[in-house]
Amino acid sequence: MSITPETVLAALSQVEEPDLKKDLVTLNMIRNIQISGKRVSFEVVLTTPACPLKEMIKNACITAIHHLVDKEAEVEPIMTAEVTSHRQNRSEVLPGVKNIIAVASGKGGVGKSSVAMNLAVALSVAGSKVGLMDADIYGPSLPLMSGLEGSTPLARQDGGKQWIQPLERFGIKLMSIGFLVPSTQALVWRGPMASKALGQFITDVEWGELDYLIVDLPPGTGDIHLTLTQQLPVTGALIVTTPQPVAVADARKGLAMFQHASFQVPVLGIIENMSWFIPSDNPEKKYTLFGEGGGLLLSIESGVPLLGQIPLTESIRVGGDIGMPGVLDADSPAAPAFHKLASAVAQQVAIVNANASSAKVN
Ligand SMILES: Nc1ncnc2c1ncn2[C@@H]1O[C@H](COP(=O)(O)OP(=O)(O)OP(=O)(O)O)[C@@H](O)[C@H]1O
Ligand SMILES: [Mg+2]
Repeated sequence: MSITPETVLAALSQVEEPDLKKDLVTLNMIRNIQISGKRVSFEVVLTTPACPLKEMIKNACITAIHHLVDKEAEVEPIMTAEVTSHRQNRSEVLPGVKNIIAVASGKGGVGKSSVAMNLAVALSVAGSKVGLMDADIYGPSLPLMSGLEGSTPLARQDGGKQWIQPLERFGIKLMSIGFLVPSTQALVWRGPMASKALGQFITDVEWGELDYLIVDLPPGTGDIHLTLTQQLPVTGALIVTTPQPVAVADARKGLAMFQHASFQVPVLGIIENMSWFIPSDNPEKKYTLFGEGGGLLLSIESGVPLLGQIPLTESIRVGGDIGMPGVLDADSPAAPAFHKLASAVAQQVAIVNANASSAKVN
């Protein structure tokens, strides 16, 4: 068969996006087909630069053209990405932000802030525009974790409104109430005051264009969570737990909260943190200090996928204390775990967005 844009498109319409369960042409993922003799190039626009299926899709495109058009064609798919959004009307709050992902837990101290920070940096390393909002207004941890303690964000006056500019570090934009008020003041806020402060914080920060805004929530299931989901079009939530039964019991409540009628936020997945510890001087040993299988158990009973398991490592603990995300330490065993997690999260976001847009079309 001769190589034409039509035969190439027909062949690529036989390649399915494994997560979205539709072919690449229907999904509008093929652009800019160029043909010169036996040479065929085209762009494949993936739903995220962190797509774990990139190589698989690329190979499937080459195979389809060899089988269905010309077995001697020199096929050169150019893999690019445009992060999708479930938001049809972005004229509302934070118009430039495509996806808002809340990180929650139920139980305190399981590693939400550490996971939020390292996940945000991993998504940025993969090529996305990322912001991290510390919504824990009772105990903000981002200033310390980012090494930006004492920094003050700039403000920009626009008409009658004052916009707060996020700080930038490790390739991501960062904002915390801890950059705006002394930590002693934030700690004494009570319910309505805290919600009001968070509400203002949400509407006054100028995030600009972002593929993903990661929001680090305080522990528990309270007013802050409700305020956040009512005021922000949250794409989905991630639930962090340790393998320990007591953490899983609280994570279960956190998960139920997002699925409750007054929230209606899809839960994208579960993240098990502190899953095991492998001492660097004795790598044959693997200690499961907080027990085993908690994340998997919660995943099975809720039907929500377990997106990653993060080992307990010194680099994550030290990184949090000195303001250097452990994911940037190539020698840390947590680094590959966070890169894998970033791919899995991006994949779930793409699935939720695809389902939301097909629900609107149908
Ligand atoms: N995978 C890990 N390996 C080593 N230390 C970790 C890991 N995850 C978190 N920590 C450490 O555990 C402590 C609690 O983590 P973190 O502050 O991220 O939890 P949190 O769930 O956000 O807590 P809170 O509920 O108070 O907001 C911190 O000292 C952090 O450095
Ligand atoms: Mg925290």
